[in-house]
This record gives sequence, C-alpha cells and structure tokens, in this order.
Amino acid sequence: MKCYKAKDYKEMGRKAANIISAQIIMKPDCVLGLATGATPIGIYEQLIEWYRKSDLDFSEVITVNLDEYRGLPRSNEQSYYYFMRKNLFDHINILPENTHIPNGMEEDSEKACRDYSNIIRQIGGVDLQLLGLGHNGHIGFNEPDDAFEKEVHCVNLTESTIMANARYFSSQEEVPTKAYTMGIKTIMQARKIVVVVSGADKADILKEAFFGPVTPHIPASILQMHNDVIIVADEAAIEKVSDLI
Ligand code: PGA
Repeated sequence: MKCYKAKDYKEMGRKAANIISAQIIMKPDCVLGLATGATPIGIYEQLIEWYRKSDLDFSEVITVNLDEYRGLPRSNEQSYYYFMRKNLFDHINILPENTHIPNGMEEDSEKACRDYSNIIRQIGGVDLQLLGLGHNGHIGFNEPDDAFEKEVHCVNLTESTIMANARYFSSQEEVPTKAYTMGIKTIMQARKIVVVVSGADKADILKEAFFGPVTPHIPASILQMHNDVIIVADEAAIEKVSDLI
C-alpha cells in the first residue's frame, strides 16, 4: 500500500488524476472503475482540463461505475448516471456505449446484479478502480456487516449513509434506501486501486481502515490485502497516520 500526501483537496485531485492519466496513456483502451461522491469531483475536473488541452484521449477508454441507487431514473439529478454525465462524461470524448453504470431502474435485483457482473466480465475486468471512503468505512455501497459481500449485489443502505447522502436531496425521506453495488470481490479483482480521501472528518476512518485490523465491519480495511493500492489523501485526512507512513 502506497500513501501519497497532498497539501489540500485540489492537490489531492491533481495527484489522483495524474495516476489515472498515466493509466490511460499506457493503455488507451483501459477499463476504469469510477466512483461518485464529493471527493472525486476535483479529479474529474482535472481530467476534463487535460482533455481540453489535448493531453488526454478517452476515445477508447471503457468505464464501469461502482454503484447506483435502486429506483432513481437516469434523469433524476441524484442518480449516479446523471452525476457521471454532469461531472465527466459530457465533457470528454468517451463513447456513451463504453460507459457502464448498474441499471437502477431494474426492479429484478437478481437480474440487475447478474447483468452488471456480466458486463464487468465481458470487458475483461477493471484495470484501475477509483474509490472514495465513506465515514463508516464503506467502499462503493458495501456497508459495514458481519461478512464481506463478494459479488455485485443489492444493498440496504445504513442509516449513516442515508444521512450523509441526505444533503443532496430536499429531504431525508427522498434518499433511496437501496442501491446496486460492486461487491468486495469485484473491487478486489481490480488490477490497481486508487483511494482518495479528503478532510479532517475522514482522519479517523482512514486510520482505522488502513492501519487497523481487516474486518467486514470496516469494509475498506480489506484493501490492505490488495497488492496494488494507492491512497491519495490530503493533509487533513492523513493527519492521524502521519507517523505511520
Ligand atoms: P464522499 O463519499 O466522497 O462524498 O465523502 C465517499 C463515499 O461515501 O464513498
């Protein structure tokens, strides 16, 4: 596990974007596993800037997102489909057919999960998976539990995740309570993983997840077992582990 320290959120975004950009340059038809949430937005802004300067070409890149709310149509501004278009896909030359997100409107959960697993398999797995870190240690929507859920699955979101996401909705009642997400095995099969963490409110969970015991009660802790993980964190998030890295 490598840990890159950034001065602030902006520098964190630039460093993580550099790693993604290197991946695209080395393998133009790479498969990128992408994440939503507040943390990756700066990365996407940087990638868009480099695309506009003709330093990056997404024409052969394939993407698979980690997760999607169940029951939100793509047109809903809070769907991850909408998020990805607004924050990245609409601003770069990626082919829409090369972008994949679980189908949140598929009511048959088993079918939605099976279809998404098949897509990931058909495109040959993920070269580089980008991850944010939830306050409860979740990655994707893999919530703390007594066991690791392995494959793509439908999850009941925890109270803390629903509350954290409520800031994006007009009321907490509107936040979906279920989501489709890649499982821990799916994530662990990515050839390279980049975790981005920003802010003092993530300092405790960063320490627990990456320097504490591996446990399904902190899903991100399993990443300690992966042999190519890079954490890119800003000073505020990394503060409590600065003597450990
Ligand atoms: P955030 O979410 O980037 O909005 O903090 C991270 C996550 O919950 O995965």
